[in-house]
Amino acid sequence: MNVLLTGGAGFIGSHAAAMLAEAGHYVVIVDNLSNSDASVLRRLERVCGHPLPFVEGDIRDSALMRSTMKQHGVQSVMHFAGLKAVGESNEKPLDYYSNNVQGTISLLQAMDQCDVRQLVFSSSATVYGQPQYLPLDEAHPTSATNPYGRTKLHIEEMLRDVAASSAQWRFVCLRYFNPVGAHSSGLLGEAPRGTPNNLMPYVAQVAVGTRAHLNVWGDDYDTPDGTGVRDYIHVMDLVEGHLAALNFLQDNAGWSAINLGTGTGYSVLDMVKAFEQASQRAVPYSIKPRRQGDVASCYANPQLALNKLGWRATRSLQDMCDSAWAWQSNVGK
Ligand code: NAD
Ligand code: UFG
Repeated sequence: MNVLLTGGAGFIGSHAAAMLAEAGHYVVIVDNLSNSDASVLRRLERVCGHPLPFVEGDIRDSALMRSTMKQHGVQSVMHFAGLKAVGESNEKPLDYYSNNVQGTISLLQAMDQCDVRQLVFSSSATVYGQPQYLPLDEAHPTSATNPYGRTKLHIEEMLRDVAASSAQWRFVCLRYFNPVGAHSSGLLGEAPRGTPNNLMPYVAQVAVGTRAHLNVWGDDYDTPDGTGVRDYIHVMDLVEGHLAALNFLQDNAGWSAINLGTGTGYSVLDMVKAFEQASQRAVPYSIKPRRQGDVASCYANPQLALNKLGWRATRSLQDMCDSAWAWQSNVGK
């Protein structure tokens, strides 16, 4: 199948590109490189053994999206492009609405004009807001606590309306939990710009010596060791979930929202310990006050993904840390 990956030069999109190419799909990437750089395309070429078509541009440019879809005979879209920093979204909400919501509208309009009506969307567990019960299943009420989360909710709802308007449209919204880890080649991984907001890239930078120590945001939560618990999922498991969703779309019209998580929660200190083991390096940390907006625990009920997509995560915490370290200590540093 010919698949367009918006945001395909980013962390998750680049792993999806490698996995789809390996599975025999034709992949074309559109990315404006606002949070990635062109070197990933050279590394993808090494991983895939051939260059992947790449168009540098913005998903809000409908004319460019139309010409790209026509030129490459696109049949289906995986939509990763978007801004994703929660803190920044409070400071620059319009950038988030423009990139994420307006960007998705432009993309859908271009798709409609090109008769491409299948899309897998990068949603997030953030749409569950403050958990009312655990594990989180897809029936849990949705809400948002920041502009980033609200863009994901708006997009999910917009896709549902579009799906309801015509049986031609097919959408799967994949609600990611906490993607970590890297490609087994060591050539693809997470390379955040500036100070990492997320735990694992920060831990990896401490282990490699780029940063002196980790700040652990709170050790007084109602969790086994007092630190926050999350559902960390290997990025390769996550992208395999996308392939399963793409296959699902071939036989199923309409709209679905499906969790991609493992169902297991690990604490911040569990993650530090596992990363120390993988890297054989110390990760010094100090306990700091809670980070505003954080919840104690967040983990998935992944049953619907198994029932609908026939997918479940198989890689271990050790795989996540080993692969992240191989990346961080080589290309990613
Ligand atoms: P990323 O920033 O590494 O990748 C996103 C890519 O999209 C970047 O390469 C960026 O340059 C590109 N991009 C952004 N705006 C664009 C635009 N208007 N036009 C074209 N390209 C644009 O992020 P990621 O971690 O790979 O996340 C991918 C998607 O998954 C995002 O939509 C994100 O919100 C979602 N998500 C990520 C996480 C996570 O923890 N990484 C969790 C839940 C959901
Ligand atoms: N943490 C630290 N120190 C750090 C960074 C994080 O102690 O330097 C802790 C947090 O307090 C939390 C845990 O590590 O307990 C995980 O934090 P992350 O920032 O890595 O992840 P979050 O669960 O807060 O959020 C991430 C994405 C969101 C997404 C959510 C669910 O940033 O956009 O996962 O997918 F919505």
